[in-house]
This record gives sequence, C-alpha cells and structure tokens, in this order.
Amino acid sequence: MGFVQSIVVLVLASFVLGCLADCNHNNVYNVVDNGAKGDGETYDTDAFLDTWNAACKDSTDPTMLIPSGFTFLLNQIIFKGPCNSNIHVQVDGNIVAPNKEWEKKAEHWITFSEINGLKIDGSGQVDGKGSAWWSCRGDKKCSKTPDAFFVLKCKDVQLSDLKFVNSPRKHLSLYDTVGAQVSRLTIKAPEDSPNTDGIHIQNSQNVKVFKSTIGTGDDCISIGTGTSNINISQILCGPGHGISIGSLGEDESEAKVERIHIFNCRLSNTTNGVRIKTWQGGSGYAKDISFINIFFDFVEKPIVINQYYCDDNDNCSNKTSSVQITDVYYNNVKGSSSQETAIILDCSKTNSCNGIVMENINIKSAKDGDGKTTKASCFNAEVIIKGDVKPRLPCSSDS
Ligand SMILES: *[C@@H]1O[C@H](CO)[C@@H](O)[C@H](O)[C@H]1NC(C)=O
Ligand SMILES: *[C@@H]1O[C@H](CO)[C@@H](O)[C@H](O)[C@H]1NC(C)=O
Ligand SMILES: *[C@@H]1O[C@H](CO)[C@@H](O)[C@H](O)[C@H]1NC(C)=O
Ligand SMILES: *[C@@H]1O[C@H](CO)[C@@H](O)[C@H](O)[C@H]1NC(C)=O
Repeated sequence: MGFVQSIVVLVLASFVLGCLADCNHNNVYNVVDNGAKGDGETYDTDAFLDTWNAACKDSTDPTMLIPSGFTFLLNQIIFKGPCNSNIHVQVDGNIVAPNKEWEKKAEHWITFSEINGLKIDGSGQVDGKGSAWWSCRGDKKCSKTPDAFFVLKCKDVQLSDLKFVNSPRKHLSLYDTVGAQVSRLTIKAPEDSPNTDGIHIQNSQNVKVFKSTIGTGDDCISIGTGTSNINISQILCGPGHGISIGSLGEDESEAKVERIHIFNCRLSNTTNGVRIKTWQGGSGYAKDISFINIFFDFVEKPIVINQYYCDDNDNCSNKTSSVQITDVYYNNVKGSSSQETAIILDCSKTNSCNGIVMENINIKSAKDGDGKTTKASCFNAEVIIKGDVKPRLPCSSDS
C-alpha cells in the first residue's frame, strides 16, 4: 500500500470508528439522576415523569433506566408519546404502588400511551399493592378499580422479563395497540383476589404472548373484543380461571374476534382450562380460533364454550341474539379434570356453534386411579371428530 492509500485508509477508518462511537450513542436517563429517591416511601412520580419527558424528546433511541437496588413508590402516572425515537425502559429496580386504596385521577396505575417502538424489560418487580382494593371490591364499596400496567394506543411494543404481583385489578392490559411481543413475564396474585387477570388484550392486533408464568385470582390471559392475529404460547397458567376468549357481547355489544391461536400451554389447578365465554344478547363473531398442544393438570372444566355467561352480580335474562362462534379447532389437548364434566359446549339457542373440530383429545379424571371417568355435555353444537377423542361427545358426527 502506498503512502497516499494508507492515509486514505486511516482517514476512512477513523471516520468509521468515530461514527460507530457516536452513531451508537444511546443516551441513558436514570431516574435517580432526576431526583428519584427509591426508598419505597417517598413518591418518585415526578422524578419518573421528568425522566420520561427528557428521554421522550431525545432522538438517539434512549434508555430510561430504573436502576436495581431501589424501590420506587409511584402514584398514578401516564407516560405519554409520541416520542422522538424508540424508547427502551429498563426496569431493574422495583416499583410499588401506595399500600392503600388511593384517590384515582386517571383510570389506571401505570399507563403507557401513544408510543411507537416501546421496549420495556429488566429484572424488576412491579407490585400493585392490591389488597386494599380487593377487600373494598369484596364489600362492593368501590366500583372502578385500576389495572396495574396499561398499554394504550401503542405500536410495536416489546415487554419482557418483568415480574408483576398483586395488582388492584388486571396486571397488564393492552388496548388499541398494534404489534406487541410480550414474553418471559411472571405474574402472581392470590387465588382469591378478585379480577386480577394476568394479561388482558382488547381492541388490539398482531400480538404475541409467550414463555410466561401466570397465577392469579382470575383469567391468566383474557382476550376481549376487537382482537385479531393473537398468538399465545408457552404459558404456565395456574392457579386462576384459565385462558379465556371473552367475555364477549356484554350489554348487547358487538364482538369482533378472529385468528386467535393458543398453543403449547400448560394449565394447573385452574377452574377453567381453555374457555370461550359470551353473554346473551350480544352480536358479532368469534372465529378462526385454535387450541393446540394444551396440557391440563387438575383443571375443573378443561374445555368450555359458554354462551350464557353471566357475572355473579348480574341478573341475566334470556335473550335471543348472540355472538356467533365458528371454526374452533382443538388438537392434542390432554390431561386431567378434577370434575366429572370435562368438556362443556353450551352454545346459543339461536346460533349454534359451527365448525368445531376436535382431534386427539384425551381428558381423564384426576381420580383416574379410583376408576373415575369424565364426560362431555353439549347444547346446540355439532362437533367434527378426528383421531381419538375422550370423553366421547354427545354432539359429534360419530355419536
Ligand atoms: C401467529 O402464528 C401464525 C401461524 O404460525 C403466523 O402466521 C402469524 O404471523 C403469527 N402472529 C403473530 C402476531 O405472531
Ligand atoms: C395444585 O394443587 C395441589 C393441591 O392444592 C397442590 O398440591 C399442587 O402442588 C398444585 N399444583 C400446582 C402445579 O400448582
Ligand atoms: C332478576 O330477574 C327476575 C326475573 O326476570 C326479576 O323478577 C328480579 O326482580 C330481578 N332482580 C334484580 C335484582 O334485578
Ligand atoms: C335461559 O335459557 C337456558 C338454556 O335454554 C335455560 O337453561 C335457562 O333456564 C333460561 N333462563 C331463563 C331465566 O329463562
């Protein structure tokens, strides 16, 4: 290499290296540098908001850091976009809610709203301190209880690794969000805590939830209306009410739910396994749904379609219209049921369930050893059977 070429190479190399250092520069905004105390007693809400506002203006794909070794007490907070670049919120420290039933100014505790390319992860724990709310709900003294983590109108969200415990109500809700990957979460609340669903997805599309462990007092995962292209896999669920699509059609509303795929999940000690629930009087549809490779361990009602869903407090009268359920595919669904009736297909009187296929189903009694067996019940459902299906369905083409 001649002298001139060497100079050119050197100049190019230093240019490239300089750029690498600079181009890769993602600013870090640490909440502690913005005044957060992290002592678990002082409200750090303002420090978090200041940090967010600074990070949100930054265009280097910055990180908002919530460092480990601290416990941050937060009041209600809304992290609002749009921001100038993709934000990474790294939650390594713990976050706690006030240990009481607090005055609500917003709907939920921690809200992320209107943000594109949001990534949240870290080894921290988010504790909703829900017990004050649970007793108040038990006494029916409070009507609207906040969800802990509320993702609203976001696009391309990644949420992983965090641990959520003891939410006042649902732990994580996704609403009006397009594109989300939720993974490796741990969600825990007592089995008797009211409405503490693990993850609720509504009016959202293209969502993938996987590799998570969820045990709460309500559904591990619930999927509401306005959802399509939702994949749920590798979930360990229990205790709780299982994995649910619904409830749909409440107050004569219209449901639109399609392309929901639930696979490679294990449910232990839950009251329901995989369930579709709709209220009477609704309209619309729930279609193209599959449950594949599902394993039950001591589940009360492993497979349920209930088109007569009614909350305990409601007085539900019979109505003729209903959400139409079509094309539901169950394949390789196995395990044990703690009650005799392991499969319940209770379809609408006016709209029968269409295109229900069951392939390789084997649900035994949890007391199999004592010679107990399981059975199935059907109302206005017609089921196509493929392979071995146990218990036998009284509404199948082979019955
Ligand atoms: C869900 O899985 C289906 C089938 O593998 C795939 O076509 C679809 O893109 C997946 N959707 C999401 C949101 O991951
Ligand atoms: C299910 O409940 C039984 C009895 O309460 C308990 O012994 C068992 O460990 C539980 N299994 C799981 C996986 O939680
Ligand atoms: C419940 O419904 C029944 C029958 O329609 C009615 O007689 C009763 O008053 C209702 N109760 C309430 C609390 O609405
Ligand atoms: C509603 O319909 C279901 C199913 O046909 C029936 O079992 C139930 O008794 C009815 N309830 C009322 C309040 O009419």
